Amino acid sequence: MKICVIGTGYVGLVAGTCFAESGNDVTCVDVVEEKIAALKRSEIPIYEPGLEELVRRNIAEKRLTFTTDIAASVTAAEICIIAVGTPMGHARAADLSAVMAVAETIAKAMNGRKVIAIKSTVPIGTADRVRRTVASLTKHPFDVISNPEFLKEGAAIDDFMKPDRVVIGGSSETAIEKMKELYAPFVRTEQPIIVMDNCSAEMTKYAANALLATRISFINEMANLCEKVGANIDDVRRGIGHDRRIGHAFLFPGVGYGGSCFPKDVQAVISTAQDHQLDFTLLRAVEDVNDRQKRLLAGRVLEHFGGDVTGRRFAIWGLSFKPRTDDMREAPSVIIVDRLLAAGATLAVHDPEALDEAKKVFGNRVTYHRVNYEALEGADALIIVTEWNEFRRPDFERMKKLLKSPIIFDGRNLYERSTMQQFGFTYYSIGRTPLRHE
Ligand SMILES: NC(=O)c1ccc[n+]([C@@H]2O[C@H](COP(=O)([O-])OP(=O)(O)OC[C@H]3O[C@@H](n4cnc5c(N)ncnc54)[C@H](O)[C@@H]3O)[C@@H](O)[C@H]2O)c1
Repeated sequence: MKICVIGTGYVGLVAGTCFAESGNDVTCVDVVEEKIAALKRSEIPIYEPGLEELVRRNIAEKRLTFTTDIAASVTAAEICIIAVGTPMGHARAADLSAVMAVAETIAKAMNGRKVIAIKSTVPIGTADRVRRTVASLTKHPFDVISNPEFLKEGAAIDDFMKPDRVVIGGSSETAIEKMKELYAPFVRTEQPIIVMDNCSAEMTKYAANALLATRISFINEMANLCEKVGANIDDVRRGIGHDRRIGHAFLFPGVGYGGSCFPKDVQAVISTAQDHQLDFTLLRAVEDVNDRQKRLLAGRVLEHFGGDVTGRRFAIWGLSFKPRTDDMREAPSVIIVDRLLAAGATLAVHDPEALDEAKKVFGNRVTYHRVNYEALEGADALIIVTEWNEFRRPDFERMKKLLKSPIIFDGRNLYERSTMQQFGFTYYSIGRTPLRHE
């Protein structure tokens, strides 16, 4: 099939590349010229494991091309997939300006029947809005399909190639069949393709993210209670996770959820509910708990040092909002860094992949270290914000020698308390009693 994917970010680039990998002719389109120029040279603008190799192969085999010319790519395609950003906009609702701008451009460029598939996460009713806009600008026939994306950054290729399910929302049998055909190579192990109306497909994406965010806020609040009563959240988490009704995923306590999806999608659901005179009390609480959790670790550092960290130096390991990505959007590290800098500390930061993105956020307010141990030199404590695998089994003796004092604030519960005890660290984690050695 001939496809164009409009919006070449985390979702568009992964989707376009995977569709090319399964044999389709794909053109990825973006308005950012430097991004397209770099991709044409096979330079990948984001860090996503496995993506670079796939992009290079499909460029070389001429199934994947890049352009800034939306109109030409629409003319050549039978399926136009919209994957532009839908950031939080006015009154915390999703900003649809990019989606609608693309819909207009598609309409004006149409030269025959097209399937317009919306992959961006969009509020309920957007497919109808796109349908009305396109219909007002073209005489050509078209169908609007809602095809929300469920991939996770850091495992995006795997998620896309082996989805748990594919959701297709729409009413046209032929368009739905075309979409099923497009996804057939990815569901060969009997994952379901679930067909529904546009509105339900749009809601499914929000419902999924809202529920996952709810699990995170639940376990974080439970962790805080565990700490108060002397229970260990990791034991409690295992104790409930083995219950098949509950499961283990998204039940890890931490420093709050971030990223480009959960915060804005939770807010978009609250906003949609308000538009319909419904107060989504549960999700407002999910958001409140998360805001508090994002401030918890910095608060704990300040408390340990008696409220005054002027002139103190801290090392931070992990800046991206989660491991295996360089995405800094809404990352809890931003709040932690800002709060400690405002309190007079100096910060030496390390992240395996996100340092370039972090520089765009923190500028010269912190020092950057490519090697994690180098950030520790002379630091009053280590603060762990993102659970990169490479932090799980470090050389604790070396860490102790480099740190001015052996103190770790672990926002991800990477270490066993018994190990920390053995090495003589003062150790704060989430939902477990602190270990103090002074
Ligand atoms: N990132 C994720 O993990 C994820 C997962 C599932 C769904 N989503 C949803 O997918 C959508 C895209 O997310 P993302 O993370 O890929 O965003 P992103 O910001 O990484 O990429 C969006 C791209 O769209 C481009 N763009 C903006 N306006 C454009 C226009 N008018 N024409 C052409 N290109 C344009 C931008 O330049 C950018 O490259 C969002 O709605 C998001 O909520 C994201």
